[in-house]
Amino acid sequence: MLTSQPLPLIWETPTTLRAWRRQQAGSIGLVPTMGNLHAGHASLIERARAENAIVVVSIFVNPLQFAPTEDFDRYPQTFEADRELCQTLGVDAIFVPTPQALGLAARAGSDHDRTGVIPPESMTNVMCGRSRSGHFDGVTTIVTKLFNIVQPDRAYFGRKDAQQLAIVQAMVRDLDIPVEICPCPIVREASGLAYSSRNQYLSQPKREQATVLFQALQQAAAMVTAGDRDRRTILDTVRSHCATVTELDLDYVELVDPVSLAPIEQLDRRALLALAARLGTTRLIDNIVLQTRPPIIAIDGPAGAGKSTVTRAIADRLGFLYLDTGAMYRAVTWLVMETGTALDDEAAIAELVAACDLDMQPQSDGGCVVTMNGTEITTAIRTPEVTANVSTVAAQKAVREFLMKQQQAFGDRGGLVAEGRDMGTCVFPSAEIKIFLTATPAERARRRACDLSAQGYEVDLAQLEADIIERDHQDSTREIAPLSKADDAIELVTDGMTIEAVIDRIISYVNTL
Ligand code: PAF
Repeated sequence: MLTSQPLPLIWETPTTLRAWRRQQAGSIGLVPTMGNLHAGHASLIERARAENAIVVVSIFVNPLQFAPTEDFDRYPQTFEADRELCQTLGVDAIFVPTPQALGLAARAGSDHDRTGVIPPESMTNVMCGRSRSGHFDGVTTIVTKLFNIVQPDRAYFGRKDAQQLAIVQAMVRDLDIPVEICPCPIVREASGLAYSSRNQYLSQPKREQATVLFQALQQAAAMVTAGDRDRRTILDTVRSHCATVTELDLDYVELVDPVSLAPIEQLDRRALLALAARLGTTRLIDNIVLQTRPPIIAIDGPAGAGKSTVTRAIADRLGFLYLDTGAMYRAVTWLVMETGTALDDEAAIAELVAACDLDMQPQSDGGCVVTMNGTEITTAIRTPEVTANVSTVAAQKAVREFLMKQQQAFGDRGGLVAEGRDMGTCVFPSAEIKIFLTATPAERARRRACDLSAQGYEVDLAQLEADIIERDHQDSTREIAPLSKADDAIELVTDGMTIEAVIDRIISYVNTL
């Protein structure tokens, strides 16, 4: 094959890989694979290439994740073709250890006396875990070893293995492994069949029969779009569609939460519809994410991290509602002032908000028309008087509770971006995308100093940084709505990134949902 890319380096032991790793500068993206690379892997590698200075692909058919009865011995191995594909895609290094090099026995099911990583039972006793006992222990153990050896900043996993992805994400969260897991969309052949190394076990007629899996999932998705929300109806549709191919033996079809893998009865949020089936001796899996509404993006983070600029731009680019929560607090403050209610009369304010009618209508320019009890107050809420009183009003429990309900009501329709300090933790805990947008205090002080000097002010950089550290402390320890990062939020540290790069990164997360 003709390619202008340099040959990827090949490392076969943790020692050599680590020695090379220590000399690399910039972010490292890891694509863990078992080889026999296909278009699905290529899409992971391409994304890793676009997002990192260095890309490592690991190729290791992991004996720990195969039962003795499974296809470990016949798993396709095509190293030369894999190496060429890696070269074409600009991979820097391939890590291809033997089981011995990783301290493992070379046969499936024979490794017992070693430390392993055990994922929670609630995530392994469903879906593939039911019939592949021990499989996910093997996956998490090997993935942990790979993370420890390669020490990547990011690791790329396909959504086809949705259970593996959810389990690896949980592991990284639970064990505080410093790596960002990047999920990538399923890649399908023109027929709809998801790419898989195991497809090559299929004869041509079986390959055609296998397309029924995706058709069944699509049929269920169409029902959901048409308004069906019932678990049983959705699952029955998939089952009866699969039953049209008599050779197909459906192992399971399940409807679960894509993060926790807990079963979902009534479809009122994003749900993973996943299945596994056997065609002859070949086991195939596939899935689809069912959505009842467009996603919610919750952006939290400390002051001065650029949240509002980023949030507005994302809403604008995606055509989503920018939920201006600050404007909502201002609207209530305006009402308190307009009615002559004392700012510290919490009981009177509570009554006022309980009876008020607040409306926010998004505009095409990303702005919002704010109406309170029928009066348009879009500009009236921006006066210095409202600004001076808003934090007093916003600190009151009744006000916060009322506005949280309003914000959640907007969330019911989906298709919104909200920024704040507790959007991902309290207001929209089931938001599809949670970002914790931050930058080091030094970087935020530098940005603030630039703004202030552009306005002609003298600046004391050290003081600005000290103020920012103090404000962060206050924000994260205050009693009401403290700043906190949701467990499942992606932390984006924006030092050295342009605003455009930050926006592009967040949009790329949305595009891979
Ligand atoms: O998805 C795979 O190919 C494997 O399960 C992985 C993640 C490389 C671990 O062996």
